[in-house]
Parts: sequence; C-alpha cells; structure tokens
Amino acid sequence: MSEFAAVDVIRAKRDGHALSDAQIDWVVDAYTKGVVADEQMSALAMAILLRGMTPAEIARWTAAMIASGERLDLSSVTRPTADKHSTGGVGDKITLPLTPLVAACGVAVPQLSGRGLGHTGGTLDKLESISGWRAKLSNDEFKSQLQEIGAVICAAGEGLAPADRKLYALRDVTGTVEAIPLIASSIMSKKIAEGTGALVLDVKVGSGAFMKDLTTARELASTMVRLGRDSGVNTVALLTDMSTPLGLAVGNANEVAESVEVLAGGGPADVVELTLALAREMLAAAGVDADPEKVLASGRAMDTWRAMISAQGGDPDATLPTARETEVLRATSDGVVSGVDAYGIGISAWRLGAGRARKEDPVSFGAGIQLKVKPGDFVRTGDVLLELRADDPSRIPAARDEAAAAVTIGPERPTPVKLVLDRIA
Ligand code: URA
Repeated sequence: MSEFAAVDVIRAKRDGHALSDAQIDWVVDAYTKGVVADEQMSALAMAILLRGMTPAEIARWTAAMIASGERLDLSSVTRPTADKHSTGGVGDKITLPLTPLVAACGVAVPQLSGRGLGHTGGTLDKLESISGWRAKLSNDEFKSQLQEIGAVICAAGEGLAPADRKLYALRDVTGTVEAIPLIASSIMSKKIAEGTGALVLDVKVGSGAFMKDLTTARELASTMVRLGRDSGVNTVALLTDMSTPLGLAVGNANEVAESVEVLAGGGPADVVELTLALAREMLAAAGVDADPEKVLASGRAMDTWRAMISAQGGDPDATLPTARETEVLRATSDGVVSGVDAYGIGISAWRLGAGRARKEDPVSFGAGIQLKVKPGDFVRTGDVLLELRADDPSRIPAARDEAAAAVTIGPERPTPVKLVLDRIA
C-alpha cells in the first residue's frame, strides 16, 4: 500500500488546497516511476493550472523534480560559472554568440539547451546545421570542455530531472504548458540540477512568446528568480520584447550564419544589443569585471566559438545548408513597416520546415525566413519584404499566407519598442 492515493492529491488541488511537502514528494516520485498514471498527472496538472500553487509548494515541487535525477557537480571547473535561459522566441539565436562571448570574458558557460517545438526554435536544431556537430556529450566530456574552452552548448543528459522530461511531454498534449508554477519548476529544476553558479533568465514577452503580457511575464520571472536564489544560484531576469522576431534570420542554418556575423563584429543591431545586455548580466552575476563589447570587437569571442564548435565535432568553416526553393514576398503598397509579428513569422517558418510538429520529426536546416525589413523601415510597392525558404515546395503556399499577414505596412512610423522591458533581481 502506498502512503497516498493519487486521487486524493488531485482532489485536494482541485478544491484549492495547498499540497503538503509529503504529497508533493510522493506524487512527483510516483509519477516518474510510473506508479501515478498519465491520466492522473494530467488531471493534477490541470488542477495546478486552474488553482495555482503557493511559493512553498512551487519550491517543493521543484526540489522533487531535481531529486528525480542526478545533480551535476561543477566544482572541478576553476572559473565561475554562469548560464542563460530564454523562455523561447522567434529568431532567438542569442545563445550562439552569447555563450562564446561570456566564456571569452572569463566565465565558464554550461549551456544545456533544447530543441524547438511549435513555432519557437531550438538551439540544438540550429547548431546541428553545422556539419559534424554533436549535441550529445557525456558528463565527463561536458565538464572537461567547460574547463578547457569555457563554453559548452549541448543536450541535457537523460539523467537530469527525468520527472520534468515526462511531465513536459504530458503538459504539451494536455493544454497545461501555460501554468506558471509548472513552467517555473520545469525550467529551474533543470538549471539548478545542471550545477551553474549564476543564471540569467531572458523572459520573453509578446506575441511570439509563452507570456503575452508584462504582468504574467513578471510573475513568471519573479517566481523563477526566487527559486534560483533559494537554491543558492545567483539568479536575475530580464524581460525582453518578443512582439517582433530578433534579427533578420528565422530558421536554423540562417540563424547560425547571423550569429557568426555578430561574432565577426557585424549582425543586426537588436541581436547585438541583447547579446551584450545578457552578457553584462551574466558577468555581473558571476562576479567578473569585463567589458563584453571590447571582447566582441577583439575577435576573442569568435576564437572561442570556433574552439567550441570543433570540440563537438563540428567544422566551423563548413558551408551551411541552403534550401532548395526560395520565394520572395513583396510590398503591395508604399509606406512604413508598422509591424512584423513574431508569432506569424514563427508559424510561417515552422510551416516551411524549420520546426517540427512532433518531437520525433526532423527539421529542415535550410528552411526558414530571411527578413529584409524591420518595423520602422520605409518601403515602396514591389520592394522585397522577406524571403521564404523551403526544401519542399508544397510547404510554401500556407507559409506565404501566414508571412504576408504578419507584415503590416501603414502610413506612419510605429513607436519604437524597447528591447529590454524590465529587470527582476
Ligand atoms: N521550457 C521548459 O523547459 N519548460 C517549460 O515548462 C516551458 C519552457
């Protein structure tokens, strides 16, 4: 006989009660072991989404998810460590230039990343467009690369927070992804288990993000900052705009190319601005005094990028894959670009094959969208607004409609939106 019955835990949350520490420990452990069934955990996840959790419940739930697996010990790494986590956006390739940049400034960056699902891209999918690059590393390879190069971007090992892996897949198909206690515990359990000393959260706000408004984004950010601090991880969060895609490239290979431009001293202004803002936060959280702008200009971040890619079997000089088909979308009137909607562009890139519908699906590395305009740009009828890229031409029509609806042209310049909207520490 087990100590608890899942149905009692579900009823307690359904009726708006706080769960006890023992109930939380039991239900997370029993679900991981398959004792609590998927349908029971689905009901509990929905009750949590509707009823919420107290800060004490969220902290205990996070601790139970960490305890479901291993905790990495990075004490052998001699430099301070800092990681960054983005809640996911469109064109968000910032991890790619940021990781080597911060490493080149003297902080070790243990970046365990994920794959894209739905309209938001995944860092591992982007990097896999580099010939030979390997996402899977053993814990020993991970630690030795972190010590020697200072920068690692790889997949989280199977042993890290297995409760989250199972629960996240369930939430994805039961309409329960959006619960703040579940998002916060999911992200923070993995980051705390990874062993980083400092963490900077990039909480995205806007149409292309999970959090569509500042109020819910602030609540998510403060919940995660509290969880990190209470576990001894020096955590801060930036709330950043995701109403329009970051940079000009949305896809996989084209986002790698844009990141390399940033490392070479160029690249779109918004990508450079956010990379530097997050780098400053990571350096401050790790207690290292360095100027990331100078380090970027010196070329040292590019050297670290090349070393990081080579260490994982990738060829930093390899030609990146290109799509078989391209089509341009042109302006049908004169005016000013008043908006480029992140969600619409994300869905369109996904339809072109840059993303996946199911976890098992492959992505097309060359597929995606290359924007030719940003909000505030003047255009004339016939000017190219964006380029659609796909390997499979049958994917283009639906993607074209979505992309066309995402770009709006009006008579006046829109009010510029700030990239960094708030900071929560
Ligand atoms: N990313 C995660 O890792 N977990 C969530 O719940 C949402 C985004």
